[in-house]
Amino acid sequence: MPSDDRVIRDLAASDPVGAQGAFPVGFSWGAATSSYQTEGAVHEDGRGESIWDRFCATPGAVRNGEDGTIACDSYHRYREDVALLHELGANAFRFSISWPRVLPTGRGAVNEAGLDFYDRLVDELLANGIEPLVTLYHWELPSALEDAGGWPERRTVEAFVELAEVVGRRLGDRVSRWITHNEPWVASWLGYGWGMHAPGRASVEDALAAAHHLLLSHGLACEVLRTCSRDAHVGIALDLTEAVPATSGEEDIAAAAELDGERNRWFLDAIFRAEYPADVRERFVSSVPPIAEGDLSTIAAPLDFLGVNYYTRNVVERTPDGGRRTVPQPGAPHTEMGWEVAPQSLFNILVRLRDEYAPPSIAITENGAAFTDVRREDGSVVDPERCAYLADHVEAVRRALVAGVPVSGYFVWSLLDNFEWTEGYSKRFGIVYVDYPTLERVPKSSFYRYRDLIAEK
Ligand code: FCB
Repeated sequence: MPSDDRVIRDLAASDPVGAQGAFPVGFSWGAATSSYQTEGAVHEDGRGESIWDRFCATPGAVRNGEDGTIACDSYHRYREDVALLHELGANAFRFSISWPRVLPTGRGAVNEAGLDFYDRLVDELLANGIEPLVTLYHWELPSALEDAGGWPERRTVEAFVELAEVVGRRLGDRVSRWITHNEPWVASWLGYGWGMHAPGRASVEDALAAAHHLLLSHGLACEVLRTCSRDAHVGIALDLTEAVPATSGEEDIAAAAELDGERNRWFLDAIFRAEYPADVRERFVSSVPPIAEGDLSTIAAPLDFLGVNYYTRNVVERTPDGGRRTVPQPGAPHTEMGWEVAPQSLFNILVRLRDEYAPPSIAITENGAAFTDVRREDGSVVDPERCAYLADHVEAVRRALVAGVPVSGYFVWSLLDNFEWTEGYSKRFGIVYVDYPTLERVPKSSFYRYRDLIAEK
Protein backbone atom coordinates (compact mmCIF):
# COMPACT_ATOMS: atom_id res chain seq x y z
CA MET A 1 0.00 0.00 0.00
CA PRO A 2 1.44 3.41 -0.88
CA SER A 3 1.38 5.92 1.96
CA ASP A 4 -1.34 8.58 2.06
CA ASP A 5 1.26 11.14 1.17
CA ARG A 6 2.28 9.22 -1.85
CA VAL A 7 -1.32 8.79 -3.01
CA ILE A 8 -1.85 12.53 -2.70
CA ARG A 9 1.36 13.28 -4.56
CA ASP A 10 0.46 10.93 -7.37
CA LEU A 11 -2.98 12.44 -7.58
CA ALA A 12 -1.51 15.90 -7.87
CA ALA A 13 0.95 14.87 -10.54
CA SER A 14 -1.83 13.48 -12.69
CA ASP A 15 -3.98 16.51 -11.94
CA PRO A 16 -1.75 19.57 -11.85
CA VAL A 17 -4.51 22.15 -12.21
CA GLY A 18 -6.64 20.72 -9.50
CA ALA A 19 -9.87 19.64 -11.11
CA GLN A 20 -9.54 16.59 -8.95
CA GLY A 21 -8.74 17.98 -5.56
CA ALA A 22 -6.58 16.98 -2.67
CA PHE A 23 -9.28 18.30 -0.35
CA PRO A 24 -10.14 15.62 2.18
CA VAL A 25 -13.68 14.53 2.96
CA GLY A 26 -14.94 16.62 5.84
CA PHE A 27 -12.91 19.68 4.80
CA SER A 28 -14.64 22.80 6.14
CA TRP A 29 -15.70 25.26 3.46
CA GLY A 30 -17.02 28.42 4.97
CA ALA A 31 -17.13 32.15 5.35
CA ALA A 32 -16.22 34.37 8.28
CA THR A 33 -17.64 37.48 9.92
CA SER A 34 -17.28 39.19 13.29
CA SER A 35 -19.78 40.64 15.74
CA TYR A 36 -18.97 44.35 15.68
CA GLN A 37 -18.51 44.36 11.93
CA THR A 38 -21.90 42.84 11.11
CA GLU A 39 -24.38 42.63 13.98
CA GLY A 40 -25.45 46.24 14.53
CA ALA A 41 -28.12 46.49 17.28
CA VAL A 42 -25.54 47.94 19.63
CA HIS A 43 -28.15 49.45 21.91
CA GLU A 44 -30.51 46.49 21.94
CA ASP A 45 -31.43 43.85 24.49
CA GLY A 46 -29.02 44.98 27.17
CA ARG A 47 -25.72 45.04 25.25
CA GLY A 48 -23.03 47.07 27.01
CA GLU A 49 -20.49 49.39 25.41
CA SER A 50 -17.32 48.04 23.78
CA ILE A 51 -14.03 49.77 23.08
CA TRP A 52 -15.04 49.94 19.41
CA ASP A 53 -18.28 51.84 20.16
CA ARG A 54 -16.21 54.34 22.08
CA PHE A 55 -13.33 54.52 19.60
CA CYS A 56 -15.72 55.16 16.72
CA ALA A 57 -17.14 58.11 18.63
CA THR A 58 -13.67 59.70 18.81
CA PRO A 59 -13.46 62.42 16.16
CA GLY A 60 -11.11 61.45 13.35
CA ALA A 61 -10.62 57.83 14.47
CA VAL A 62 -12.71 56.17 11.75
CA ARG A 63 -13.17 57.25 8.15
CA ASN A 64 -16.27 59.43 7.74
CA GLY A 65 -17.02 59.05 11.45
CA GLU A 66 -18.75 55.74 10.75
CA ASP A 67 -19.48 53.04 13.33
CA GLY A 68 -21.07 49.63 13.85
CA THR A 69 -24.40 50.88 15.18
CA ILE A 70 -26.32 49.31 12.28
CA ALA A 71 -23.57 47.52 10.29
CA CYS A 72 -25.28 44.71 8.32
CA ASP A 73 -28.03 44.38 10.92
CA SER A 74 -27.22 40.69 11.16
CA TYR A 75 -28.60 40.71 14.69
CA HIS A 76 -32.02 40.82 13.06
CA ARG A 77 -31.22 39.41 9.62
CA TYR A 78 -29.16 36.39 10.62
CA ARG A 79 -31.67 34.01 9.04
CA GLU A 80 -31.09 35.66 5.68
CA ASP A 81 -27.34 35.32 6.19
CA VAL A 82 -27.63 31.63 7.02
CA ALA A 83 -29.81 31.11 3.94
CA LEU A 84 -27.01 32.65 1.86
CA LEU A 85 -24.47 30.27 3.42
CA HIS A 86 -26.76 27.41 2.57
CA GLU A 87 -27.06 28.57 -1.03
CA LEU A 88 -23.28 28.84 -1.15
CA GLY A 89 -22.91 25.19 -0.18
CA ALA A 90 -20.86 26.13 2.91
CA ASN A 91 -20.65 23.51 5.65
CA ALA A 92 -19.15 25.86 8.24
CA PHE A 93 -19.51 29.47 9.41
CA ARG A 94 -17.14 31.48 11.54
CA PHE A 95 -18.63 34.28 13.64
CA SER A 96 -17.67 35.97 16.90
CA ILE A 97 -19.27 36.73 20.22
CA SER A 98 -19.79 40.33 21.23
CA TRP A 99 -18.42 40.24 24.76
CA PRO A 100 -20.51 43.23 26.01
CA ARG A 101 -23.66 41.63 24.61
CA VAL A 102 -23.08 38.66 26.91
CA LEU A 103 -21.39 40.36 29.88
CA PRO A 104 -22.27 44.06 29.55
CA THR A 105 -19.65 45.20 32.04
CA GLY A 106 -17.17 42.49 31.19
CA ARG A 107 -17.67 40.28 34.25
CA GLY A 108 -20.37 39.31 36.69
CA ALA A 109 -23.93 39.86 35.54
CA VAL A 110 -24.77 37.79 32.48
CA ASN A 111 -27.15 39.26 29.91
CA GLU A 112 -29.32 36.28 29.01
CA ALA A 113 -30.90 38.11 26.07
CA GLY A 114 -27.45 38.46 24.51
CA LEU A 115 -26.73 34.77 24.90
CA ASP A 116 -30.16 34.01 23.42
CA PHE A 117 -29.10 35.65 20.18
CA TYR A 118 -26.13 33.29 19.78
CA ASP A 119 -28.40 30.39 20.68
CA ARG A 120 -30.73 31.29 17.85
CA LEU A 121 -27.86 31.74 15.41
CA VAL A 122 -26.29 28.40 16.31
CA ASP A 123 -29.63 26.60 16.00
CA GLU A 124 -30.29 28.19 12.62
CA LEU A 125 -26.87 27.13 11.36
CA LEU A 126 -27.26 23.57 12.59
CA ALA A 127 -30.72 23.31 11.07
CA ASN A 128 -29.07 24.14 7.75
CA GLY A 129 -26.26 21.62 8.15
CA ILE A 130 -23.66 24.33 8.81
CA GLU A 131 -21.13 23.86 11.58
CA PRO A 132 -20.53 26.91 13.80
CA LEU A 133 -16.93 27.99 14.43
CA VAL A 134 -17.17 30.45 17.30
CA THR A 135 -14.54 33.12 17.98
CA LEU A 136 -14.67 34.39 21.54
CA TYR A 137 -12.69 37.58 21.01
CA HIS A 138 -12.74 39.51 17.79
CA TRP A 139 -11.72 42.77 19.45
CA GLU A 140 -14.92 43.68 21.32
CA LEU A 141 -13.57 44.36 24.78
CA PRO A 142 -16.24 45.81 27.11
CA SER A 143 -15.39 49.46 27.87
CA ALA A 144 -15.72 48.71 31.59
CA LEU A 145 -12.72 46.38 31.34
CA GLU A 146 -10.73 48.93 29.38
CA ASP A 147 -11.48 51.45 32.14
CA ALA A 148 -10.03 48.94 34.59
CA GLY A 149 -6.79 48.75 32.58
CA GLY A 150 -7.69 46.76 29.47
CA TRP A 151 -5.49 44.00 28.08
CA PRO A 152 -2.22 45.37 29.55
CA GLU A 153 -3.78 44.61 32.94
CA ARG A 154 -3.36 41.00 34.07
CA ARG A 155 -6.83 40.84 35.63
CA THR A 156 -8.40 41.06 32.18
CA VAL A 157 -7.20 37.48 31.69
CA GLU A 158 -9.56 36.29 34.44
CA ALA A 159 -12.41 38.21 32.88
CA PHE A 160 -11.82 36.51 29.54
CA VAL A 161 -11.82 33.09 31.19
CA GLU A 162 -15.19 34.02 32.68
CA LEU A 163 -16.49 34.86 29.20
CA ALA A 164 -15.21 31.52 27.90
CA GLU A 165 -17.04 29.73 30.66
CA VAL A 166 -20.33 31.58 30.23
CA VAL A 167 -20.36 31.10 26.45
CA GLY A 168 -18.99 27.56 26.60
CA ARG A 169 -21.68 26.50 29.09
CA ARG A 170 -24.48 27.94 26.98
CA LEU A 171 -23.35 26.83 23.51
CA GLY A 172 -21.06 23.91 24.31
CA ASP A 173 -23.78 21.31 23.84
CA ARG A 174 -24.01 22.28 20.16
CA VAL A 175 -20.70 24.00 19.35
CA SER A 176 -17.49 22.02 19.31
CA ARG A 177 -15.21 24.30 17.26
CA TRP A 178 -13.78 27.34 19.01
CA ILE A 179 -11.30 30.09 18.38
CA THR A 180 -10.17 31.91 21.51
CA HIS A 181 -8.66 35.04 19.94
CA ASN A 182 -8.61 36.69 16.58
CA GLU A 183 -5.26 38.17 15.57
CA PRO A 184 -3.61 38.97 18.90
CA TRP A 185 -0.91 40.91 17.01
CA VAL A 186 -3.49 43.34 15.65
CA ALA A 187 -5.36 43.60 18.95
CA SER A 188 -2.19 44.38 20.88
CA TRP A 189 -0.08 46.39 18.46
CA LEU A 190 -2.70 48.33 16.50
CA GLY A 191 -4.86 48.79 19.59
CA TYR A 192 -2.29 49.47 22.32
CA GLY A 193 1.03 50.03 20.55
CA TRP A 194 0.24 52.34 17.67
CA GLY A 195 -3.13 53.82 18.63
CA MET A 196 -4.64 52.95 15.27
CA HIS A 197 -7.40 50.65 16.54
CA ALA A 198 -9.53 50.68 19.67
CA PRO A 199 -8.78 51.52 22.41
CA GLY A 200 -6.31 53.87 20.71
CA ARG A 201 -3.38 53.69 23.10
CA ALA A 202 0.16 54.16 21.84
CA SER A 203 2.76 52.52 24.06
CA VAL A 204 5.17 49.68 23.32
CA GLU A 205 4.95 48.51 26.95
CA ASP A 206 1.17 48.32 26.73
CA ALA A 207 1.31 46.47 23.43
CA LEU A 208 3.66 43.81 24.76
CA ALA A 209 1.71 43.43 28.00
CA ALA A 210 -1.55 43.20 26.04
CA ALA A 211 -0.08 40.54 23.75
CA HIS A 212 1.13 38.50 26.71
CA HIS A 213 -2.23 38.64 28.44
CA LEU A 214 -4.13 37.81 25.27
CA LEU A 215 -1.98 34.72 24.87
CA LEU A 216 -2.25 33.76 28.53
CA SER A 217 -6.01 34.08 28.41
CA HIS A 218 -5.98 31.91 25.29
CA GLY A 219 -4.19 29.12 27.13
CA LEU A 220 -6.53 29.26 30.12
CA ALA A 221 -9.64 29.47 27.94
CA CYS A 222 -8.55 26.35 26.06
CA GLU A 223 -8.85 24.37 29.29
CA VAL A 224 -12.22 25.88 30.14
CA LEU A 225 -13.69 25.26 26.69
CA ARG A 226 -12.59 21.65 26.83
CA THR A 227 -14.56 21.14 30.00
CA CYS A 228 -17.71 22.96 28.82
CA SER A 229 -17.95 21.75 25.29
CA ARG A 230 -18.25 18.19 24.07
CA ASP A 231 -15.65 17.03 21.56
CA ALA A 232 -14.05 20.50 21.76
CA HIS A 233 -11.66 21.53 19.01
CA VAL A 234 -9.92 24.67 20.16
CA GLY A 235 -7.61 26.97 18.25
CA ILE A 236 -6.45 30.57 17.88
CA ALA A 237 -6.44 32.68 14.70
CA LEU A 238 -3.13 34.38 13.93
CA ASP A 239 -2.60 36.91 11.17
CA LEU A 240 0.49 35.54 9.49
CA THR A 241 2.49 37.14 6.74
CA GLU A 242 5.58 36.27 4.76
CA ALA A 243 8.34 38.81 5.34
CA VAL A 244 10.53 38.90 2.25
CA PRO A 245 13.74 41.00 2.19
CA ALA A 246 13.58 43.59 -0.61
CA THR A 247 17.18 42.84 -1.63
CA SER A 248 19.83 40.33 -0.68
CA GLY A 249 21.56 43.06 1.33
CA GLU A 250 22.27 42.29 4.98
CA GLU A 251 20.23 45.21 6.27
CA ASP A 252 17.09 44.27 4.33
CA ILE A 253 17.45 40.68 5.47
CA ALA A 254 17.69 41.87 9.07
CA ALA A 255 14.68 44.16 8.62
CA ALA A 256 12.58 41.30 7.25
CA ALA A 257 13.65 39.08 10.15
CA GLU A 258 12.50 41.77 12.58
CA LEU A 259 9.08 41.95 11.03
CA ASP A 260 8.84 38.16 10.96
CA GLY A 261 9.82 38.07 14.63
CA GLU A 262 7.23 40.58 15.76
CA ARG A 263 4.34 39.48 13.58
CA ASN A 264 4.81 35.73 13.31
CA ARG A 265 7.40 34.19 15.63
CA TRP A 266 6.41 36.10 18.77
CA PHE A 267 3.07 34.31 18.72
CA LEU A 268 4.04 31.02 17.08
CA ASP A 269 7.04 30.41 19.34
CA ALA A 270 4.98 31.14 22.45
CA ILE A 271 2.14 28.86 21.40
CA PHE A 272 4.18 25.98 20.00
CA ARG A 273 7.44 26.22 21.95
CA ALA A 274 6.51 27.92 25.21
CA GLU A 275 9.08 30.68 24.63
CA TYR A 276 9.32 34.17 23.19
CA PRO A 277 11.96 34.53 20.48
CA ALA A 278 15.25 35.79 21.92
CA ASP A 279 15.96 38.30 19.12
CA VAL A 280 12.63 40.09 19.63
CA ARG A 281 12.97 40.03 23.41
CA GLU A 282 16.37 41.63 23.10
CA ARG A 283 15.05 44.45 20.95
CA PHE A 284 12.23 45.18 23.38
CA VAL A 285 14.12 44.27 26.50
CA SER A 286 13.02 47.20 28.62
CA SER A 287 9.36 46.80 27.63
CA VAL A 288 8.70 43.08 28.03
CA PRO A 289 6.03 42.66 30.75
CA PRO A 290 6.48 40.57 33.85
CA ILE A 291 6.05 36.95 32.82
CA ALA A 292 5.03 34.84 35.78
CA GLU A 293 6.31 31.35 36.25
CA GLY A 294 4.14 28.92 34.34
CA ASP A 295 2.69 31.53 31.97
CA LEU A 296 4.46 30.19 28.94
CA SER A 297 3.50 26.60 29.56
CA THR A 298 -0.11 27.76 29.96
CA ILE A 299 0.12 29.63 26.65
CA ALA A 300 1.49 26.51 24.99
CA ALA A 301 -1.58 24.43 25.88
CA PRO A 302 -1.99 21.85 23.11
CA LEU A 303 -4.06 23.18 20.22
CA ASP A 304 -6.47 21.17 18.13
CA PHE A 305 -5.88 23.47 15.18
CA LEU A 306 -4.14 26.67 14.25
CA GLY A 307 -6.22 29.33 12.51
CA VAL A 308 -4.37 31.27 9.83
CA ASN A 309 -5.68 34.61 8.60
CA TYR A 310 -3.85 35.44 5.43
CA TYR A 311 -4.15 38.47 3.18
CA THR A 312 -0.77 39.55 1.85
CA ARG A 313 3.00 39.32 2.09
CA ASN A 314 5.44 42.08 3.07
CA VAL A 315 8.51 42.93 1.04
CA VAL A 316 10.66 44.69 3.60
CA GLU A 317 13.56 47.11 3.40
CA ARG A 318 15.68 48.96 5.95
CA THR A 319 15.03 52.71 5.95
CA PRO A 320 17.86 55.24 6.30
CA ASP A 321 16.83 56.02 9.89
CA GLY A 322 17.33 52.37 10.89
CA GLY A 323 13.63 51.52 10.77
CA ARG A 324 11.94 49.38 8.16
CA ARG A 325 9.12 49.65 5.68
CA THR A 326 7.07 47.49 3.36
CA VAL A 327 8.00 48.32 -0.22
CA PRO A 328 5.18 48.52 -2.77
CA GLN A 329 5.64 46.12 -5.68
CA PRO A 330 4.88 47.99 -8.88
CA GLY A 331 3.41 45.71 -11.49
CA ALA A 332 1.98 43.26 -8.96
CA PRO A 333 -1.80 43.27 -8.47
CA HIS A 334 -2.99 45.03 -5.32
CA THR A 335 -6.36 45.13 -3.56
CA GLU A 336 -8.24 48.28 -2.53
CA MET A 337 -6.46 48.07 0.84
CA GLY A 338 -3.19 48.51 -1.05
CA TRP A 339 -2.24 44.93 -0.17
CA GLU A 340 -0.26 42.95 -2.72
CA VAL A 341 -2.03 39.86 -4.04
CA ALA A 342 0.44 37.04 -3.31
CA PRO A 343 -1.10 33.55 -3.18
CA GLN A 344 2.31 31.88 -3.33
CA SER A 345 3.06 33.32 0.11
CA LEU A 346 0.06 31.52 1.55
CA PHE A 347 1.55 28.27 0.27
CA ASN A 348 4.97 29.22 1.68
CA ILE A 349 3.50 30.04 5.10
CA LEU A 350 1.64 26.74 5.26
CA VAL A 351 4.73 24.73 4.38
CA ARG A 352 6.77 26.67 6.93
CA LEU A 353 4.20 25.96 9.64
CA ARG A 354 4.39 22.26 8.81
CA ASP A 355 8.19 22.29 8.96
CA GLU A 356 8.82 24.56 11.92
CA TYR A 357 5.78 24.25 14.20
CA ALA A 358 3.92 21.09 13.12
CA PRO A 359 0.38 22.07 14.17
CA PRO A 360 -1.92 19.03 14.22
CA SER A 361 -4.28 20.81 11.85
CA ILE A 362 -4.57 24.22 10.18
CA ALA A 363 -7.69 26.12 9.15
CA ILE A 364 -7.47 29.15 6.91
CA THR A 365 -9.79 31.20 9.11
CA GLU A 366 -9.72 34.35 6.94
CA ASN A 367 -8.69 35.05 3.37
CA GLY A 368 -10.19 37.57 1.00
CA ALA A 369 -9.89 40.92 -0.68
CA ALA A 370 -11.46 44.37 -0.90
CA PHE A 371 -12.17 45.76 -4.33
CA THR A 372 -14.34 48.63 -5.52
CA ASP A 373 -17.65 46.95 -6.18
CA VAL A 374 -20.48 48.78 -7.86
CA ARG A 375 -23.96 47.67 -8.61
CA ARG A 376 -24.80 47.57 -12.29
CA GLU A 377 -28.04 48.86 -13.69
CA ASP A 378 -29.47 45.35 -13.72
CA GLY A 379 -28.69 45.14 -9.98
CA SER A 380 -25.82 42.67 -10.26
CA VAL A 381 -22.31 43.06 -8.85
CA VAL A 382 -19.53 41.67 -11.03
CA ASP A 383 -16.15 41.28 -9.30
CA PRO A 384 -13.69 39.37 -11.48
CA GLU A 385 -10.67 40.37 -9.38
CA ARG A 386 -12.14 38.82 -6.24
CA CYS A 387 -13.09 35.70 -8.23
CA ALA A 388 -9.45 35.35 -9.31
CA TYR A 389 -8.15 36.11 -5.80
CA LEU A 390 -10.27 33.35 -4.26
CA ALA A 391 -9.51 30.78 -6.95
CA ASP A 392 -5.76 31.44 -6.71
CA HIS A 393 -5.69 31.20 -2.93
CA VAL A 394 -7.80 28.05 -2.85
CA GLU A 395 -5.33 26.63 -5.35
CA ALA A 396 -2.46 27.55 -2.99
CA VAL A 397 -4.26 25.63 -0.24
CA ARG A 398 -4.69 22.64 -2.54
CA ARG A 399 -0.99 22.65 -3.33
CA ALA A 400 -0.20 22.82 0.37
CA LEU A 401 -2.41 19.79 0.99
CA VAL A 402 -0.60 17.96 -1.76
CA ALA A 403 2.66 18.88 -0.03
CA GLY A 404 1.36 17.20 3.12
CA VAL A 405 0.23 20.24 5.13
CA PRO A 406 -2.76 19.20 7.28
CA VAL A 407 -5.21 21.92 6.20
CA SER A 408 -8.74 21.21 7.41
CA GLY A 409 -10.74 24.25 6.36
CA TYR A 410 -10.97 27.47 4.39
CA PHE A 411 -13.08 30.48 5.38
CA VAL A 412 -13.45 33.41 3.04
CA TRP A 413 -13.40 36.87 4.56
CA SER A 414 -16.11 37.82 4.35
CA LEU A 415 -19.62 36.56 3.77
CA LEU A 416 -20.87 40.16 3.70
CA ASP A 417 -19.51 43.60 3.02
CA ASN A 418 -19.21 45.05 6.51
CA PHE A 419 -17.71 47.63 8.85
CA GLU A 420 -14.00 47.50 8.06
CA TRP A 421 -12.71 49.03 11.31
CA THR A 422 -10.94 52.37 10.72
CA GLU A 423 -11.89 52.24 7.05
CA GLY A 424 -15.58 52.33 7.97
CA TYR A 425 -17.80 51.06 5.17
CA SER A 426 -15.46 52.22 2.40
CA LYS A 427 -13.81 48.82 1.88
CA ARG A 428 -15.95 45.94 0.68
CA PHE A 429 -14.63 42.45 1.43
CA GLY A 430 -17.87 40.51 0.99
CA ILE A 431 -18.79 37.86 -1.53
CA VAL A 432 -22.24 39.30 -0.88
CA TYR A 433 -22.76 43.01 -1.51
CA VAL A 434 -24.63 44.92 1.17
CA ASP A 435 -26.62 47.91 0.02
CA TYR A 436 -26.21 49.88 3.24
CA PRO A 437 -29.21 52.23 2.89
CA THR A 438 -31.63 49.29 2.50
CA LEU A 439 -29.47 46.46 3.95
CA GLU A 440 -30.39 44.34 0.94
CA ARG A 441 -27.92 41.49 0.33
CA VAL A 442 -26.82 40.89 -3.27
CA PRO A 443 -24.53 37.93 -4.02
CA LYS A 444 -21.59 39.09 -6.16
CA SER A 445 -20.19 36.98 -8.97
CA SER A 446 -17.47 35.85 -6.51
CA PHE A 447 -20.25 34.25 -4.44
CA TYR A 448 -21.11 32.01 -7.39
CA ARG A 449 -17.44 31.42 -8.20
CA TYR A 450 -16.78 30.31 -4.63
CA ARG A 451 -19.94 28.17 -4.67
CA ASP A 452 -18.57 26.42 -7.78
CA LEU A 453 -15.13 25.96 -6.20
CA ILE A 454 -16.76 24.31 -3.20
CA ALA A 455 -18.92 22.10 -5.37
CA GLU A 456 -15.95 20.99 -7.51
CA LYS A 457 -13.78 19.88 -4.58
C1 FCB B 1 -8.51 41.07 9.58
C2 FCB B 1 -9.63 41.09 10.60
C3 FCB B 1 -11.02 41.11 10.01
C4 FCB B 1 -11.09 41.98 8.77
C5 FCB B 1 -9.97 41.64 7.81
C6 FCB B 1 -10.00 42.43 6.53
O1 FCB B 1 -7.37 41.61 10.13
O2 FCB B 1 -9.54 39.96 11.44
O3 FCB B 1 -11.90 41.53 11.00
O4 FCB B 1 -11.12 43.30 9.10
O5 FCB B 1 -8.73 41.82 8.43
